[in-house]
Amino acid sequence: MSADIALRRSRKLDHIEYALTLDDGPADSRFTDFQLLHNCLPELALNDIRLETAVAGISLPHPLIINAITGGTDDVADVNAKLAEVARLTGSAMAVGSQFAALRDPAAVASYSIIRDVNPSGILFANLGAHASVEQAKAAVDMIDAAALQIHLNPAQELMMPEGDRSFTGYLAKIQDIVHSLDVPVIAKETGCGIAGEQATSLVQSGVRAIDVSGAGGTNFPAIEAARGRHEVSAEALSWGIPAAISAAEVAASLPDGVDMIVSGGVRSPLDAVKSFALGGRAVAVAGPVLRLVQTGGVGAAVSWVESFLAELRCYLLLTGSSCPADLLAKPLVVSGFSRDWLNARGID
Ligand code: FNR
Repeated sequence: MSADIALRRSRKLDHIEYALTLDDGPADSRFTDFQLLHNCLPELALNDIRLETAVAGISLPHPLIINAITGGTDDVADVNAKLAEVARLTGSAMAVGSQFAALRDPAAVASYSIIRDVNPSGILFANLGAHASVEQAKAAVDMIDAAALQIHLNPAQELMMPEGDRSFTGYLAKIQDIVHSLDVPVIAKETGCGIAGEQATSLVQSGVRAIDVSGAGGTNFPAIEAARGRHEVSAEALSWGIPAAISAAEVAASLPDGVDMIVSGGVRSPLDAVKSFALGGRAVAVAGPVLRLVQTGGVGAAVSWVESFLAELRCYLLLTGSSCPADLLAKPLVVSGFSRDWLNARGID
């Protein structure tokens, strides 16, 4: 086994192991700073509530996406098979983990294609970093017959990894090339440090059809990488990033019509989800909790969690007088504390 493949194998397993043991990091997603108003006259029946939504022109039966997690070695194929089964049983769209490994090593393709075997007609998103070439992007999409390509942006994570990238130049030009060469839409995403309005504007100009904020407050890659590397990281460094709810407000203020927002990074409850929709999200995405559930309780535990999440989501939609997630955009949202100060300082309504 080459040193590169051995390193990748241990990294993929380490990410899963530390995501399980570390739980969420010390950063705060700040969803608690945002409050929706209870509507005592909703003029709706629970049966009237529709969860369908669309992201980047892709219709989704409901707005909870299983976000990018893993793939790339035999050791994680069973994790992808379980996640795919959860996606199939719950009708959830699912993103795969970074596919670079399979582009370099054909033996790694099976750890991704197993997802298609388990869920032949599911909605899948491919995943690569921003230094990918157009050919790699096309191959990643074809590998799993993906409906979209996620391009992840993760400079903080890379800097924490001893073997990580140290140069982050030329990304927008690469994204633009990929956008213009693919037949499927491109979604730009972070991996837990959030996206600010300025970078959202640049990404929109590069042609992406959706932005997944993946803000701070959930899975904490600086903490995971620090644990892997067995080095100390200050509490300040672990709290680096834009809280997910604030990142959602930043990105929403920068998006033109026709470009959609997915909210993720510490989305942990149906209440976080309805707040995300009120902030302008078309869908929410969750990674760490679904991974923990399939690894500790199995597919059944993860399916129950998704089903309860969606059932409760319907209740919150009713209680805010919303017949579908998009209705929440017009509902009042009271912002307080740190988030209000942040948005005021940034001139965001
Ligand atoms: C991730 N995430 C991720 N994202 C990505 O774009 N490509 C990847 O390969 C991975 N790999 C990965 C592994 C593990 C073990 C976890 C838990 C997560 C990031 C993920 O998609 C998401 O953006 C963040 O985890 C934030 O969401 P949660 O976990 O707070 O819901």
